[in-house]
Amino acid sequence: MALWGGRFTQEADARFKDFNDSLKFDYRLAQQDIEGSIGWARAIASVGIISSDEKDRLIAALEKLLESVSADPHGIADAGFEDIHSYVESRLIEEVGDLGKKLHTGRSRNDQVATDIKLWCRAQIEVLLSSIRNLQRKLTLTAETYQNVVMPGYTHLQRAQPIVFGHWAMAYVEMLERDYLRLENARRLMNICPLGSAALAGTAYPVDREQLAHDLGFDDATRNSLDSVSDRDHIAEILSCASISMMHLSRFAEDLIIYNSGESAFLELSDRVTSGSSLMPQKKNPDALELIRGKTGRVYGALMGILTTLKALPLAYDKDMQEDKEGLFDALDTWHDCLDMSALVLEDIKIRTERTTAAAKGGYSNATELADYLVSKGVPFREAHHIVGELVVYAIGEGKPLEDLSVAEFQKICPVIVDDVYPCLEISSALAKRCAKGGVAPQQVASAIGFMKNHLGL
Ligand code: ARG
Repeated sequence: MALWGGRFTQEADARFKDFNDSLKFDYRLAQQDIEGSIGWARAIASVGIISSDEKDRLIAALEKLLESVSADPHGIADAGFEDIHSYVESRLIEEVGDLGKKLHTGRSRNDQVATDIKLWCRAQIEVLLSSIRNLQRKLTLTAETYQNVVMPGYTHLQRAQPIVFGHWAMAYVEMLERDYLRLENARRLMNICPLGSAALAGTAYPVDREQLAHDLGFDDATRNSLDSVSDRDHIAEILSCASISMMHLSRFAEDLIIYNSGESAFLELSDRVTSGSSLMPQKKNPDALELIRGKTGRVYGALMGILTTLKALPLAYDKDMQEDKEGLFDALDTWHDCLDMSALVLEDIKIRTERTTAAAKGGYSNATELADYLVSKGVPFREAHHIVGELVVYAIGEGKPLEDLSVAEFQKICPVIVDDVYPCLEISSALAKRCAKGGVAPQQVASAIGFMKNHLGL
């Protein structure tokens, strides 16, 4: 049964109905639609539109409906109704008869759907925040386990300076901290209740919208009814949070894919998160990580989708806005899965420390140390940089790392280099020197891990 038959003399074309109906995806708003309806029943009772007894009967029926939809949420999807609002209202009428028809007094599906989506986003944000925290904890514990494992740090994907694995892992904890704060902020901006804005001009009954907002767990009621029913900013904003975080996860995935490659062989991924090739028996592919990297695209797609749908839409509600849901649902599910999968990948990852250490020693990643050594001998940095460049070319020609050159070889290019150069070329010395806040020195890495353990309640 449609909610609006009176004005129509012809049946809707089946193809149009199929095109127009949203129940097949907005069934996911069932719980929120019922919660919002309970709030609305209280609101209209408080201004005498229904009696207190009628309100109680409506709420009891809505609670019963909530139980039945919670038992089989997906079961609603092909119940044949236009949308979740029609579904809930029809089921209510089935249960309490004509009384059910009173609930929609002063309400429109326009303020209803705006409220439902905000309630849904709020619940989903809770789940996502906890998945972000979970991944941060996993990363911090991994960082602690591999706190002192030396590996090359890269710029331009060229070995640049030695770092430790713990420092690499903590970099992602920082990114996720910003993702967490961004999402919390989005929740704060969004948590204002549109219910009571009706179709566009506001409800014609003097309900206390602030009380209603608080009943539904919102911080306040919206101030403008036109804006209330047209606003989908929060969807764009949450999808922007999701996109930025997925960008972080894709970089995390890509780093690990590189470290897992045969060429690096810095680590081994667990059999639990890899798959084999149907043709090449030796293969163990990083599918979980590749999917995280790949799924980033569809989350960006959802963000572009909603921005494009909303662009230049005239006030107030337009049916275009029904297109807000599928991208939102899919993107938040995807983000959630990718956060959890990232944590799972870390679960029994094995770092091959002999490989990471050998790689950190190779590639002349102590060249900066040699330049700093020359500076300590009074050579201006620019000149030192040039001299070390020549020494690297010489060492490459000899097929040796810098620390294997003799003093005589050093002195052929730069006479100020003496015996005391060798300790400076050791990785431990390169690490220890980076002792300013945020650097890779052991006590800095330890303090970063300690700070986050405390922050994350570990
Ligand atoms: N299914 C609709 C949506 O998701 C609900 C609002 C319908 N409002 C209307 N005026 N047709 O946007």
